Amino acid sequence: MAVRTAVIPAAGMGTRFLPATRATPKELLPIYDTPALQFVIDEAIAAGCDQVIVVTSRTKPSIENYVATASTDKVSVSVVYQDAPLGLGHAVGCARQAVGKDPFIVMLPDEIMGDASLTKQLVAQFEATGKSSIGLKRVAPAEVSSYGNVKVAGYSGGAESSVEILQVVEKPSSAEAVSDIVIIGRYVFAPTVFDKLDQVKPSANSEIQLTDALAMLAAERSLNGIVSDITRYDTGTPMGLLRAVIEIALQRKDIGAPLNAWLKEKFNK
Ligand code: G1P
Repeated sequence: MAVRTAVIPAAGMGTRFLPATRATPKELLPIYDTPALQFVIDEAIAAGCDQVIVVTSRTKPSIENYVATASTDKVSVSVVYQDAPLGLGHAVGCARQAVGKDPFIVMLPDEIMGDASLTKQLVAQFEATGKSSIGLKRVAPAEVSSYGNVKVAGYSGGAESSVEILQVVEKPSSAEAVSDIVIIGRYVFAPTVFDKLDQVKPSANSEIQLTDALAMLAAERSLNGIVSDITRYDTGTPMGLLRAVIEIALQRKDIGAPLNAWLKEKFNK
């Protein structure tokens, strides 16, 4: 079944970006002149979606204002609300009615990908298997504890390796880590994930973790992934955002060359 809907969770408080996020949600902070949210909407369109649902909070009216003018002839963009900060799994669950009974993509706007290739591959893997499919990446052992961590079968070591996921652990300590492979923010879900989310018990901080639903799918051998070496910008921290702005601006036809010349001049002094 074709995957035509993307869900973008964008209800977080953005505390790492204070004071900017007192007035501007982090998803609207510009990568040069384009909000991170728009990059993710464009990636959804490139991956074949014509419906984008942004999960936001009523405390972030600028997201609604942005979405009000974001629909085009290619895509319809709308919002649903997460009324309390109860975690990523809860945010995805808030999109249930809007998604309906079709498969859908979840795209975390804290991560901007170099292109839509990984999301397209995840959609193709879902369409071939009917099983939910998530983006994965190998990282240095010290970084594993910042992510969802997976144990996999079938890893070829190739640049784009399809794997079966056997186990999922959220942000493990180094002793608990099950591999050096982590979850990056692209997921293609069969709609059955909503039933799994219904069964997730709140964690110690009262959040419904998406990873707990992934662990249930993995226990039933209903979760695949692609270990990818796609270019990825982590825009969830101020330093990551700054790097994304510089790297993405350097690649632009209009300003890449003058920016490069200015940086060279600055550092050659
Ligand atoms: C979330 C997920 C985590 C995943 C990460 C990817 O964590 O819970 O499993 O690896 O996104 O960016 P967060 O970054 O929201 O803490």
